[in-house]
Amino acid sequence: MKIKSFLTLALGIVILQSCSSKKSEDNQQKDSVTVNKIEKTSFGTFPDGRTADSYTLKNANGMEVKITNYGGVVSHWTAPDKDGKYEDIVLGFDSLAGYLTPPPYFGAIIGRYGNRIAKGKFKLEGKEYALATNNNNLNHLHGGVVGYDKVLWTAEPIEGEEPALKLTYLSKDGEEGYPGNLNVTVIYTLQKDNSLKMDYSATTDKTTIINLTNHSYFNLSASKNNILDHEVTLNADRFLPVDKGLIPTGELRAVKGTVFDFTSPTVIGKGINDEKDEQIKLGGGYDHAWILNKKEGNELSLAATVVDKTSGRKMEVLTTEPAIQFYTGNFLDGKLTGKGGVNYPKRFALCLESEHYPDSPNQAAFPTTVLKPNETYKTTTIYKFSVVK
Ligand code: BGC
Repeated sequence: MKIKSFLTLALGIVILQSCSSKKSEDNQQKDSVTVNKIEKTSFGTFPDGRTADSYTLKNANGMEVKITNYGGVVSHWTAPDKDGKYEDIVLGFDSLAGYLTPPPYFGAIIGRYGNRIAKGKFKLEGKEYALATNNNNLNHLHGGVVGYDKVLWTAEPIEGEEPALKLTYLSKDGEEGYPGNLNVTVIYTLQKDNSLKMDYSATTDKTTIINLTNHSYFNLSASKNNILDHEVTLNADRFLPVDKGLIPTGELRAVKGTVFDFTSPTVIGKGINDEKDEQIKLGGGYDHAWILNKKEGNELSLAATVVDKTSGRKMEVLTTEPAIQFYTGNFLDGKLTGKGGVNYPKRFALCLESEHYPDSPNQAAFPTTVLKPNETYKTTTIYKFSVVK
């Protein structure tokens, strides 16, 4: 009897123990699924001794994004092809050295004002401001000589099922000629559905102008081919024609009947060399803002879809912004060699930069880019990857 109850007790303990160890295994498993660690490594050292870091964000599917606090550059970004193979789909360099040349804004955060401001001049509350004319000595481009792409941001990794990197930067009053101390935050979140979300926010202590974006150069073939076979759809019935300095003329032109019509899936190579089209000639290809079809004005909506049929990779871009700059890497010229020794010739990648219209501070009919001290600037853009078979 004694032996029997002892055995029953012992069996009970064994069952209980195995249950609790099963439970803790489950918990551990759950933890390893829900917490995707963020690895921090050195990205390199500047000539003046400062250092830059690189943060690797991974999701449970195997998507991997590397972001450096130098310019908030996304230097590496993998996406699956139709066989499930994750490969790098952005142009860039393995370490800081490549970014010091500097390259044409590969993967970087662009600010305080993305794209061009005519002659680098604008008026705000009666005062005239002069910015650097860093684009062919003619116009202001992408925030000036030292834009947000060339500064060190403060980085805060946020681990979780959807790992994120929070980047903050104080752009001082007068920096690059812009008024107001601007506190900028950009949060990159790698989501479960293979998308990278970019949340931008900012506040100022003086009335200023702002237009933030990201300048990733995508090649969905993982740099095996150029992008002329990529098929693009833009949810836009109109685009902004430009002058020879690539400043919008002010006209909102219908895309219908032109090589700017991407309202249905269209291969980039189809119209990009149409020299009869004056706008193609001026841009040296596509380098224009498309005005997004929106219901509400600033809702998060699908702006663009890109498909590379050979690899099966598909990218969708969603944004709260009113426009998207579709740039086909016309100024790449083969002088840069990036990751894996791959050379970057003309039209080797495409950019889809969510934005307000270029030169808005000088064009009263365009949606405003003015930010006042009592306001918060907030925009979101998402790049989502999937596969078409
Ligand atoms: C602009 C191009 C410019 C490029 C620089 C794009 O956003 O629209 O005109 O050359 O950035 O990389």
